[in-house]
Amino acid sequence: MSRAEKIKAPRGTFDVLGEQAGVRATLEARARAILEGAGYERIETPVLEATELFARGVGASTDIVQKEMFSLQDGGGRSLTLRPEGTAPVCRAYVEHGMHKRKQPVKLWYLSSFFRHERAQAGRYRQFWQVGAEALGSEDPAVDAESIVLLAVLLGEMGVRERRLRLSSLGSSESRGEYRERLQAHLREHEASLAEEVRSRIELNPLRAFDSEHEGTRQIMASAPRLLDFLSAEDAEHFAQVRDLLDVAQVSYEVDPTLVRGLDYYTRTVFEFTSDALGAQSGVGGGGRYDGLVERLGGVPTAGMGWAAGVERILLAGEEPPLVASPIDLFVALGEESREARAEGDDFDELDGSRVESRRAAFEILAEARSAGLTAQMELGGRSLKGQLGYANSLGARYVAIVERDETALKDMQGGGQERIATDTVIHAVLRGLRTL
Ligand code: HAM
Repeated sequence: MSRAEKIKAPRGTFDVLGEQAGVRATLEARARAILEGAGYERIETPVLEATELFARGVGASTDIVQKEMFSLQDGGGRSLTLRPEGTAPVCRAYVEHGMHKRKQPVKLWYLSSFFRHERAQAGRYRQFWQVGAEALGSEDPAVDAESIVLLAVLLGEMGVRERRLRLSSLGSSESRGEYRERLQAHLREHEASLAEEVRSRIELNPLRAFDSEHEGTRQIMASAPRLLDFLSAEDAEHFAQVRDLLDVAQVSYEVDPTLVRGLDYYTRTVFEFTSDALGAQSGVGGGGRYDGLVERLGGVPTAGMGWAAGVERILLAGEEPPLVASPIDLFVALGEESREARAEGDDFDELDGSRVESRRAAFEILAEARSAGLTAQMELGGRSLKGQLGYANSLGARYVAIVERDETALKDMQGGGQERIATDTVIHAVLRGLRTL
C-alpha cells in the first residue's frame, strides 16, 4: 500500500513544540505577574465574533477589515470572523456584561491567538499570539502612562533588544476633523505623485498616507501638515501630561508625529514599540487610547486605553532566555533483568509473572511519588539501564530508583551514592533525602 500524502499545517501557521512552549510559558508568567500586580484581570473572549464587531470597531477602511479577515457563514447565514485583534472584543464584553457598573477603570489583560490573512514571512503569521492589556473607564493621562510603562517593563524583562518607543497623539475626533481636511487638501494637490493605494484612500483614510513606503508618497508626506500642530488645547495638555509621567517613570521615547496605527479606533495617545533586531516586521507592540469605541459598539460613552504585543515578535527580538530547567525529583528505572524481559515481550498478555511484577512495582512507586507531591517519571521507552540513567540525567532527576522485583537500588544523582533498599521504602528515602538538601 502506498503511503498517504503528508498533511501540513496551513501557510502562516505553526506548531508550538517543547522548548518553545516553555519559553512562552515564561512570557505568560511574567505578563501575569506584571499585569495582575497592577490590578489587571484576565479575560478570554471567543475566537469567533460577529463580523460586524470588527467592521464597526476596527474600521471599514482598514487593511484588517478590507483584506485580512478570515470570515465564514454559520448555518443561519450570519457572518462570523476569527478575531483579528482583541480590543473590539474586549469592549464588546465590557458592554455585554455591564462592566460600566463596576469600579472604574476596569483593567483587563489577555494572551490569546489572533488571525489575519497577511502575507506570511518571518515575524508575520496568519495565526499569531498577542499579549494585551486594556483599561476602560478613565481618561486620566496616568492610565496612558501606566499602560505604556507596563509594556516597557514586560519587554525589558523579556530582554527585547534595540528597543525604541515612538509616541504621538491623534487628538480627539473633533480636533482631527479640521486636520483631516487640511491633509486631504495637501494630498489632492499632489495627487499625481502618490501611490495608487494612497490616492484611493484620500477620502476614507488620509492618515494612512504616512505609513506608505512608496517613494513619491514619502516625499509628499515630508511637507504634509502634522496632526500634532492641530491638537486642541485640551488634547495638547493631555499629551503633555502623558509625556511628563513617562519622564517621571524614566521611560524614554521619541515623539513621532507621523506615527499612524493600522486601526481606526484611536484617539489622543498612540504609541508603538519597535525593535531594530526584527528587520522588516519591526513592530513589537503598540496601542493607544480609544475613547469612542465602547459607545460605537452600543455602550455608554467610556474612555479606553490599551496595547497588544506580538508574542512571537517578543520572543524573536528577546535575548535567548536561560533554559528553564525543571528538574524532577525521581526517575523510576527498570533494572536490567526486568527491562530485557519487558522489551522482548511484544505481546503484553504473555509477559511472565516477574516482569509484570517489576513494572507493577515501578508503577506503584510512580503513583506514590506523585501523591507524596514529588515530580516523577518512569521508564517507558525500552532503554538499557545505561540508557535509562542517561535519560534520567537529561531530565535533571535528583534520584533514580532502579526497581528489581523486591529490591530497589536508589541512586542519588547529585551526591553520587547508591543504596539498596526495600522497594516499599523508596518514597520515604527520597523524601528524607530531599529534606536534607
Ligand atoms: P496591532 O498593532 O495591530 O494592534 O497588533 C499588535 C501587535 O501584534 C503588533 O505590534 C505585532 O507585534 C503583533 N502582530 C500583529 N499582526 C501580526 C502578525 N500577522 N503576525 C505576528 N504578529 C503580529 C492591535 O492589535 C490592537 N488591538 C492593539 C491595542 C490594544 N490597541 C489598544 N488596545
